[in-house]
Amino acid sequence: MKYQSILILTGSGISAESGVATFRDPDGVWAKYDYREVATPEGYAANPALVHEFYNARRKGLVSVEPNPAHNALANLEMTMGRRGGTITLVTQNVDNLHERAGSKSVIHMHGELTKVTCISCGAVAHCDEEISVETKCEACGEIGTMRPDIVWFGEMPKFLDEIGAALLSADVFVSIGTSGSVYPAAGYVFEAEARGIPCVELNLEPSENAASFSEARYGKASEIVPQWVSEVLGDQ
Ligand code: OAD
Repeated sequence: MKYQSILILTGSGISAESGVATFRDPDGVWAKYDYREVATPEGYAANPALVHEFYNARRKGLVSVEPNPAHNALANLEMTMGRRGGTITLVTQNVDNLHERAGSKSVIHMHGELTKVTCISCGAVAHCDEEISVETKCEACGEIGTMRPDIVWFGEMPKFLDEIGAALLSADVFVSIGTSGSVYPAAGYVFEAEARGIPCVELNLEPSENAASFSEARYGKASEIVPQWVSEVLGDQ
């Protein structure tokens, strides 16, 4: 097998062809919304109803999108590597559930998930497919109006950093897919991988902000270049 331990970081570009908007492309989310209003603790404190409306719409949007060949290829990579005694760690900045729906079993959502909500009073986390509002009750503690999307906002600490740090120390290749490399700490993972001297592969539509740190890059649509790369890694071609 070409690699024993693969660390993959995905961003919104992998879901673009499924119909989920990216953030910084011209038609991206941050061209339509002010992130300070909908993706910061301050924005939520100022207008929670607006923040709920924003995430309710995105959660509802999951129903009408499907995984694309890039998600499918990564699920196949996980299954096949597992059978052959290797491991992959799939870290995503995405809050959609397309990796899981493609069949990936172990996905690290470092920026949270649209299908989860958390109570700012008791900390309970609950699965959520519905709309929430300033009147939603926490099923765990009974408080009303304390449920918020379980999404990491700007100024908040991403999740699972220890787990990701450990994977960065043990992986023998780092692969970044569909991310512009503009949000840290995720954007900095390539520097840590580069410092360890392991191969760093960028699969993206265009060079990311940290493109110079990758030892290999392929530019094109995720639905084409990801399955191609996976086939090569698995030795199918
Ligand atoms: P960006 O919108 O910053 O970058 C998306 C990247 O995907 C760009 O480099 C595009 O060129 C690329 N791309 C677009 N379509 C593609 C396709 N079909 N195939 C391959 N690549 C494609 O999104 P992210 O890097 O994911 O955080 O953004 C990182 C974080 O910033 C997000 O998790 C979110 C956002 O603010 C929070 O909300 C905390």
